[in-house]
Amino acid sequence: MMKRIQRPGLIAGGAAVAGVLAVLTLGTPSRAQQKAGPSDSTKASVLAASDTAGLKGPRQPIFFRHDIHAGQYKIECQYCHYSVAVAPEPGIPSLQTCMGCHAVVGGSDSTNRAEILKVRKAFTENKPVEWTRVHFLARHVHFPHSQHIKALGPSACATCHGDVTRMPQVFKVNNVNNMGWCISCHIERKVTRDCTACHY
Ligand code: HEC
Ligand code: HEC
Ligand code: HEC
Ligand code: HEC
Ligand code: HEC
Repeated sequence: MMKRIQRPGLIAGGAAVAGVLAVLTLGTPSRAQQKAGPSDSTKASVLAASDTAGLKGPRQPIFFRHDIHAGQYKIECQYCHYSVAVAPEPGIPSLQTCMGCHAVVGGSDSTNRAEILKVRKAFTENKPVEWTRVHFLARHVHFPHSQHIKALGPSACATCHGDVTRMPQVFKVNNVNNMGWCISCHIERKVTRDCTACHY
């Protein structure tokens, strides 16, 4: 498995942090205060260590859950994948971005606390996390995220990656290492099929 080299992230912007901290401070509204009907804020399920073994996708050095961060707390994808709309590479957040919240947020149960401790420890020891990549293309192929986001819209992530907001652990929904997958959408959307557009 290919390991990632962490690039410096953006300085944690205040909005998401303030939003999440407000949710934490105010707590969950009582049942009576909650609106009836399907709630759009899905509470991520509690997972015991024994539940996680069967999850799809590579096991990461820290059990970082998208269903908690992007699902339950609705932190926007671009808060962490900061360059997805402006550069070929979406960007992977630095520990500094994580610590924008985790200097304060310590975790509400023992599983979460243990994983968040790893985040704090890595930050204190200045050891970047070596996340294992889930999607990666052969070196001869070029995939520009920003051009796709501009054409398909900022919420197009799910078109290619599936509903990450419900994933405790990210896995590959589409086989991105298959030229036919790229080409069929390019045909449908009348986009170039010129070999040199995708191949170096
Ligand atoms: C905007 C605020 C925010 C940011 C940024 C953030 N987190 Fe969290 N994180 C939370 C909240 C809120 C929880 C839920 C805490 C609880 O209730 O236990 C959480 C939970 C966790 C947990 C325990 C649950 C789980 O996901 O397994 C881990 C581990 C974690 N965060 C790691 C990270 C890492 C790594 C980063 C950076 C890549 C990060 N967090 C960035 C707010 C944030
Ligand atoms: C709080 C920060 C944070 C937020 C918010 C976040 N991500 Fe992530 N994302 C990460 C981190 C850290 C990794 C690397 C670890 C992993 O794969 O779980 C990652 C990995 C991924 C991957 C796998 C990349 C690979 O290796 O191929 C995808 C796909 C992804 N995120 C999509 C999304 C989408 C879509 C959203 C919004 C719905 C989102 N992320 C929101 C931090 C975040
Ligand atoms: C048209 C399909 C498509 C869309 C839309 C898309 N991605 Fe990707 N994504 C890919 C492919 C293909 C890769 C592998 C790229 C590579 O290896 O160069 C990837 C890789 C990633 C990675 C890992 C990159 C790394 O450097 O580790 C992250 C994170 C990610 N995508 C997040 C997102 C987010 C967030 C969105 C929405 C804002 C999004 N993607 C929209 C196809 C897509
Ligand atoms: C869901 C649809 C979809 C999928 C899947 C998809 N693309 Fe695209 N792609 C687009 C659209 C739409 C554009 C046009 C963007 C524009 O008009 O600038 C585009 C543009 C591109 C461009 C820029 C072309 C140019 O004119 O410069 C490249 C390169 C590219 N895609 C590569 C890929 C690769 C490689 C894959 C597979 C790993 C892929 N795409 C998968 C929809 C898709
Ligand atoms: C829309 C993007 C796109 C276009 C256009 C495209 N390819 Fe590909 N090609 C890919 C992707 C993605 C892969 C798979 C890379 C991987 O394995 O990660 C691939 C793989 C390949 C491979 C290696 C196959 C293998 O089994 O390893 C060859 C050879 C190839 N392409 C030739 C071409 C030729 C010739 C053209 C023009 C007729 C072309 N490609 C047009 C995206 C594209």
